[in-house]
Amino acid sequence: MKNIVFVGFMGSGKTTLSKVLYKELVKENPDIRLIDTDAYIEEKLSRKISDIFAKEGEAFFRVIETETLKEIADMEGTVIVSCGGGIVERKENLSILKSIGTVVFANTPIDILWERVGNDPLRPLSKDKDAFFLLYNKRLGLYTEVADVIIDTGNDSVEKCVETVRRSL
Ligand code: S3P
Repeated sequence: MKNIVFVGFMGSGKTTLSKVLYKELVKENPDIRLIDTDAYIEEKLSRKISDIFAKEGEAFFRVIETETLKEIADMEGTVIVSCGGGIVERKENLSILKSIGTVVFANTPIDILWERVGNDPLRPLSKDKDAFFLLYNKRLGLYTEVADVIIDTGNDSVEKCVETVRRSL
């Protein structure tokens, strides 16, 4: 089975979807693994993402994020990967994402994203509404460019989104 990689803005439902998909696919593929890049980084560094942003800053986090993506690309076996929203910030990540497997862009309208995660203390880049909207507009083209499949996680149910992903595999 081909690997599946979820990309999309903060709050677009990548984590939820990847978990539901994993639960379905693991029945047929018992060796499949579910990886969340943020959780992977937090475990690797024994630190919270918010703490890394506060102490070392975003640039440092992006370096670790690319390292993480390379490690995932080198893994044996099938993986479902849920990526942090800023994974498309570095150009080199785009080709790594593609090399990992089918890239799914979880797309949600910006107003809904802000309602879901605006001012979330655990998300360092969701503190300011204008900056949040600008960031979304900057990244939208990148998510679209890297995606093999685009799902509407703003309007469609989790079940429908999972079904769309499964049909695209
Ligand atoms: C970020 C999104 C976060 C996390 C970090 C930076 C971003 O992940 O990687 O706070 O730049 O959009 P989620 O998309 O899971 O919130």
